[in-house]
Amino acid sequence: MKRKIYVTRKIPASIYDQLVQHLDVKMWEEEDIPVPREVLLKEIKDVDGLFCTITETIDEKMISHAENLKIISNMAVGFNHIDVKFANKKGIVVTNTPGVLTETTADLTFALLMATARRVVEASNYLRNGEWKSWSPMQLIGKDIYGATIGIIGMGRIGQALARRAKGFGMKILYYNRSRKLEIEKELGAEYCDLDTLLETSDYVSILIPYSPGVKYLIGNKELQRMKKTAILINTARGGIIDEQALYNALKNKEIWAAGLDVFEKEPIDLDSPLLTLPNVVTLPHIGSASEATRIKMAEITADNLIQFLEGGDPLTPVII
Ligand code: GLV
Repeated sequence: MKRKIYVTRKIPASIYDQLVQHLDVKMWEEEDIPVPREVLLKEIKDVDGLFCTITETIDEKMISHAENLKIISNMAVGFNHIDVKFANKKGIVVTNTPGVLTETTADLTFALLMATARRVVEASNYLRNGEWKSWSPMQLIGKDIYGATIGIIGMGRIGQALARRAKGFGMKILYYNRSRKLEIEKELGAEYCDLDTLLETSDYVSILIPYSPGVKYLIGNKELQRMKKTAILINTARGGIIDEQALYNALKNKEIWAAGLDVFEKEPIDLDSPLLTLPNVVTLPHIGSASEATRIKMAEITADNLIQFLEGGDPLTPVII
């Protein structure tokens, strides 16, 4: 008999077809709305596997509702929405999708950095709103990327891919990480430094660390004060790493120059968030890994982990904490 799984979001048809060849699949069919928590609490009860994304909170209560669950296969690299420790204690394996989204997320991070530095969204709106009267010497001027210093917080896979892009743009690279990455220092001339030095000397600060409670508000009032008044902060990791109220104050009071944000403490961000009133913030709806090829690869790995594990093999990409 086929093992039962529940898929929390509508996934590409080819991946769905592959899953049903091996498993008894039930899927939440709505395109744009995540499965409501009370529905998932019921659905999780008797399944062997779960295909989930970052929109579901798989906490202790959710996991405790599952009577047969053996694997939580997460279609994302970040897993802060899953209580991995509790799952593992219950003998449940958790998997994620490392590797396949590295380059795509680094691309988006660099795109956001450039869009913020050169005020691309603001300039586009300026034209569309009929404000463009003539070319003018000091109109919509931004910041240079070439020759500037980027400080990368988190030199993991995506941080390294971003550093390669930065090198190609002639940037000086600083980084702060739990451990030194000597091969990256050699390859790209990146310099390791402590967080305060990185904040004080970088023209661009890019956050690329995984979220855990230990890094909540890593960038708060004190850290923002350390940054240059001309600096740009880019976050494509997780929202809770920045204290958004402190960021709003720093941007409003021109203590830093601008921010590019793909992630927020609450997603979707409330439309009445003060951050959305500022012209010097570029905001995106968490699209770091959103290219067609990458999202298909992510769905494939998520499916392969379920199939392989529920058919008796080892998970391909288990989360080890
Ligand atoms: C997306 O945010 C991911 O963690 O893959």
